[in-house]
Amino acid sequence: MLKNSTEKLNFFKQAFNSEEFRQNGHKIVDILADYMEKASSGRLNYVLPPIEPDEMMNLWDGEFSAEPGKAPDEMVKKVVKYSNHLLHTKYIGHQVISPLPLAALFSLTGSLLNNSTAVYEMAPSVTIMERNLIKWMSNLIGFRENSDGIFTSGGTLGNLTALLAARQAKSGYDIWTEGSKDSAGLAVMVSEQCHYSVKRALQVMGMGETGVVTVPCDEAYCLDTEKLEEIYEKAINEGKKVIAVAASACSTATGSYDDLEKIGEFCGQKGLWFHVDGAHGASALLSEKYKGLLNGIHRADSVVWDAHKMMLMPALSTAVLFKNSESSYEAFSQKASYLFEKEAREEWYNMAHRTMECTKPMMAFNLYACLSVYGTKFFGDYIDHVYDLTKEFAEVINQSPDFELAIEPEGNIICFRYLKNRDEDINELQFKIRKKIISEGSFYLVQTVLRNKAYLRCTIINPLTTIKDLKELLDKVREVA
Ligand SMILES: Cc1ncc(COP(=O)(O)O)c(C=O)c1O
Repeated sequence: MLKNSTEKLNFFKQAFNSEEFRQNGHKIVDILADYMEKASSGRLNYVLPPIEPDEMMNLWDGEFSAEPGKAPDEMVKKVVKYSNHLLHTKYIGHQVISPLPLAALFSLTGSLLNNSTAVYEMAPSVTIMERNLIKWMSNLIGFRENSDGIFTSGGTLGNLTALLAARQAKSGYDIWTEGSKDSAGLAVMVSEQCHYSVKRALQVMGMGETGVVTVPCDEAYCLDTEKLEEIYEKAINEGKKVIAVAASACSTATGSYDDLEKIGEFCGQKGLWFHVDGAHGASALLSEKYKGLLNGIHRADSVVWDAHKMMLMPALSTAVLFKNSESSYEAFSQKASYLFEKEAREEWYNMAHRTMECTKPMMAFNLYACLSVYGTKFFGDYIDHVYDLTKEFAEVINQSPDFELAIEPEGNIICFRYLKNRDEDINELQFKIRKKIISEGSFYLVQTVLRNKAYLRCTIINPLTTIKDLKELLDKVREVA
């Protein structure tokens, strides 16, 4: 019990004691550095701890003592032990990166400073870094001078932000102020393979299932541009008002890049908003070798680009980029007060006008600082490395008669299946193989179903993963199958 105000103050002073921070910091960084060494050299016993959720519940106290208890370094050791080890070279699962360790230290700095990028006064330096990054990324896309954008927490929120702007710009009335009119029948054309966050955004926006007009994919799981006209006409004949097309660059399941030139041209002809979900694949713009996958992206009205996927940043760090600066103010267009709108445009430096979030972490600092330290080429080289490695792995699979690729990979996402043991249900077999491998902990990989066929799915995202790791995966699949 704290008796008087002096005791209380001393207690708080202890929590904010710089020497204690230094000591804890050194201890924690030592633990993390040792962990990094172990994880990246493959000396950890497993990638994902083989512990079911119910069992995990028993490992973590559900209640907190009123008095001080655990040591900070013990907490760190425990969370490290029971986490999924993205740093392990045999982590080839979802599209979540083991971030640059330096970015993690920058993130620590951002956490301590905690300058929320809502208004300039609360985040003077990082606001400017964010602005500079937006300009730099817009240039890579090929947007002209008038482009603009913001950083937000994740591709999901990024897609929602961009689609809100699309709706405000194309609905034909001031939907922000007047609310959605049932009769409007607004709809957005999306690829059969779009990330679920795109459809979710449309449904969050009240457009319902009918507001999602699905365009089938071709053999390569890219939006079939041959079908665009027909699907568009059908939607119009059903009384829908199509306002936009959302393309994937690339798609989540197979990493397929939609034909942005053709989709952009179609949107131009019809006067539709063109949104590109480049959450995963826009980073290929940094690679001389692979940037051609994004030809036509300059035609977009909005682009979502996650730095926490293929730019090695910790979660979350998403840029939403608009071709026209004006659009960046439209997602959260405060028509209720025209004056306020006017103010928002004059206050470009108060970013909360244009984001769903008010308080926002210093995500731009991590990226800005890492680009400044490592230079841009480092990031292009990373793309080249993992995209090349994925192609090399595909070649190995192609030469293995007991495996089958879903499609040739364009980027660093690859889907394949094991073909032997034909007496078993071949789909069930893939699920069982994955379950067995991840429960052993030797690899972490995921699965997907494409046109009723189950596949093992890998994202080769850790820059330290090698072809040896991937060949070992094939052997492991054979062994457990
Ligand atoms: C193509 C695509 N779009 C959007 C998202 C969602 O991004 P986030 O997880 O940052 O919300 C993902 C996530 O994997 C994705 O692959």
